[in-house]
Amino acid sequence: MTHSELIQKAQEALTHAYAPYSRYRVAAALLTADGHVYTGVNIENASFGATICAERVAVFKAVSDGRRDFKTLALVTGQGDFPTPCGMCRQVLVEFGKPEMEIVLHNDEKTAVYRLEELLPLSFTGTNLAEGVSNAL
Ligand code: THU
Repeated sequence: MTHSELIQKAQEALTHAYAPYSRYRVAAALLTADGHVYTGVNIENASFGATICAERVAVFKAVSDGRRDFKTLALVTGQGDFPTPCGMCRQVLVEFGKPEMEIVLHNDEKTAVYRLEELLPLSFTGTNLAEGVSNAL
Protein backbone atom coordinates (compact mmCIF):
# COMPACT_ATOMS: atom_id res chain seq x y z
CA MET A 1 0.00 0.00 0.00
CA THR A 2 1.43 3.37 -1.05
CA HIS A 3 1.33 6.52 1.03
CA SER A 4 -1.23 8.01 -1.40
CA GLU A 5 -3.48 5.00 -1.01
CA LEU A 6 -3.29 5.25 2.77
CA ILE A 7 -4.03 8.99 2.63
CA GLN A 8 -7.04 8.19 0.45
CA LYS A 9 -8.33 5.73 3.09
CA ALA A 10 -8.02 8.45 5.75
CA GLN A 11 -9.82 10.97 3.55
CA GLU A 12 -12.68 8.53 2.99
CA ALA A 13 -13.03 8.08 6.76
CA LEU A 14 -13.30 11.84 7.39
CA THR A 15 -17.05 11.72 6.81
CA HIS A 16 -17.37 9.61 9.97
CA ALA A 17 -15.68 12.14 12.25
CA TYR A 18 -17.93 13.19 15.11
CA ALA A 19 -16.87 16.74 15.90
CA PRO A 20 -19.97 18.80 16.72
CA TYR A 21 -18.14 20.92 19.32
CA SER A 22 -14.86 21.87 17.68
CA ARG A 23 -16.01 21.36 14.07
CA TYR A 24 -12.43 20.20 13.54
CA ARG A 25 -12.59 16.88 11.69
CA VAL A 26 -9.62 14.54 11.74
CA ALA A 27 -9.06 11.10 10.27
CA ALA A 28 -6.22 8.61 10.41
CA ALA A 29 -5.43 5.43 8.52
CA LEU A 30 -3.06 2.96 10.16
CA LEU A 31 -1.26 0.31 8.11
CA THR A 32 -0.14 -2.76 10.06
CA ALA A 33 2.88 -4.89 9.20
CA ASP A 34 0.59 -7.64 7.91
CA GLY A 35 -1.18 -5.29 5.52
CA HIS A 36 -4.39 -4.42 7.37
CA VAL A 37 -5.65 -0.85 7.40
CA TYR A 38 -7.48 0.54 10.42
CA THR A 39 -9.09 3.93 10.08
CA GLY A 40 -9.98 6.22 12.96
CA VAL A 41 -11.75 9.54 13.33
CA ASN A 42 -12.03 11.97 16.19
CA ILE A 43 -15.04 11.29 18.38
CA GLU A 44 -15.99 14.21 20.59
CA ASN A 45 -18.12 14.27 23.72
CA ALA A 46 -20.21 16.92 25.46
CA SER A 47 -17.97 16.46 28.50
CA PHE A 48 -15.01 17.44 26.27
CA GLY A 49 -12.62 15.33 28.37
CA ALA A 50 -14.06 12.10 26.98
CA THR A 51 -13.16 13.15 23.44
CA ILE A 52 -10.75 10.86 21.64
CA CYS A 53 -8.48 11.72 18.72
CA ALA A 54 -8.52 9.98 15.35
CA GLU A 55 -5.04 8.50 15.79
CA ARG A 56 -5.88 6.80 19.06
CA VAL A 57 -9.10 5.36 17.66
CA ALA A 58 -7.13 3.79 14.80
CA VAL A 59 -4.45 2.43 17.16
CA PHE A 60 -6.97 1.04 19.64
CA LYS A 61 -9.00 -0.62 16.89
CA ALA A 62 -5.85 -2.39 15.69
CA VAL A 63 -4.67 -3.39 19.16
CA SER A 64 -8.08 -4.73 20.14
CA ASP A 65 -7.98 -6.80 16.96
CA GLY A 66 -4.66 -8.32 18.04
CA ARG A 67 -2.42 -6.19 15.78
CA ARG A 68 0.40 -4.22 17.39
CA ASP A 69 2.97 -4.14 14.64
CA PHE A 70 2.50 -0.84 12.84
CA LYS A 71 4.15 0.31 9.63
CA THR A 72 2.58 3.66 8.73
CA LEU A 73 -0.05 6.09 9.98
CA ALA A 74 -1.53 8.70 7.62
CA LEU A 75 -3.30 11.75 9.03
CA VAL A 76 -5.62 14.30 7.39
CA THR A 77 -8.08 16.92 8.56
CA GLY A 78 -11.30 18.17 7.04
CA GLN A 79 -10.17 21.78 7.25
CA GLY A 80 -7.34 21.65 4.77
CA ASP A 81 -4.77 22.67 7.36
CA PHE A 82 -1.58 20.69 7.79
CA PRO A 83 -2.24 18.03 10.45
CA THR A 84 0.00 17.12 13.34
CA PRO A 85 -0.63 14.52 16.06
CA CYS A 86 -1.23 15.81 19.58
CA GLY A 87 1.14 14.88 22.37
CA MET A 88 -1.14 12.26 23.87
CA CYS A 89 -1.43 10.46 20.51
CA ARG A 90 2.36 10.54 20.06
CA GLN A 91 2.73 8.87 23.44
CA VAL A 92 0.18 6.17 22.52
CA LEU A 93 1.94 5.61 19.18
CA VAL A 94 5.34 5.04 20.85
CA GLU A 95 3.77 2.41 23.10
CA PHE A 96 3.40 0.18 20.04
CA GLY A 97 5.19 1.79 17.11
CA LYS A 98 8.86 1.20 16.44
CA PRO A 99 11.09 4.29 16.22
CA GLU A 100 11.12 4.00 12.42
CA MET A 101 7.32 3.85 12.07
CA GLU A 102 6.25 6.29 9.35
CA ILE A 103 3.87 9.14 10.12
CA VAL A 104 2.45 10.67 6.94
CA LEU A 105 0.96 14.14 7.32
CA HIS A 106 -1.03 15.43 4.39
CA ASN A 107 -3.00 18.37 3.11
CA ASP A 108 -3.63 19.68 -0.41
CA GLU A 109 -0.38 21.64 -0.38
CA LYS A 110 2.08 19.09 0.87
CA THR A 111 2.75 15.63 2.19
CA ALA A 112 5.48 15.12 4.77
CA VAL A 113 6.76 11.82 6.16
CA TYR A 114 8.34 11.64 9.59
CA ARG A 115 9.72 8.79 11.62
CA LEU A 116 7.88 8.35 14.90
CA GLU A 117 11.09 8.98 16.85
CA GLU A 118 11.35 12.40 15.18
CA LEU A 119 7.92 13.37 16.46
CA LEU A 120 8.59 12.22 20.03
CA PRO A 121 12.31 12.22 20.76
CA LEU A 122 13.58 10.95 24.10
CA SER A 123 10.26 9.24 24.65
CA PHE A 124 9.20 7.56 27.86
CA THR A 125 8.43 3.87 27.26
CA GLY A 126 8.13 0.55 29.06
CA THR A 127 11.90 0.26 28.88
CA ASN A 128 12.20 3.08 31.36
CA LEU A 129 9.93 1.26 33.79
CA ALA A 130 11.76 -2.05 33.38
CA GLU A 131 15.10 -0.36 34.07
CA GLY A 132 13.61 1.45 37.02
CA VAL A 133 12.43 -1.82 38.51
CA SER A 134 15.77 -3.60 38.08
CA ASN A 135 17.67 -0.62 39.46
CA ALA A 136 15.50 -0.69 42.54
CA LEU A 137 16.21 -4.37 43.20
N1 THU B 1 -7.71 15.90 17.26
C1 THU B 1 -7.38 14.70 16.68
O1 THU B 1 -8.27 13.90 16.34
N2 THU B 1 -6.08 14.40 16.49
C2 THU B 1 -5.05 15.23 16.86
O2 THU B 1 -3.89 14.81 16.84
C3 THU B 1 -5.34 16.62 17.22
C4 THU B 1 -6.72 16.84 17.74
C5 THU B 1 -9.12 16.21 17.47
C6 THU B 1 -9.55 16.18 18.91
C7 THU B 1 -10.74 17.13 18.87
O3 THU B 1 -11.89 16.39 18.50
C8 THU B 1 -10.42 18.10 17.77
O4 THU B 1 -9.38 17.51 17.01
C9 THU B 1 -9.96 19.46 18.26
O5 THU B 1 -8.92 19.35 19.15
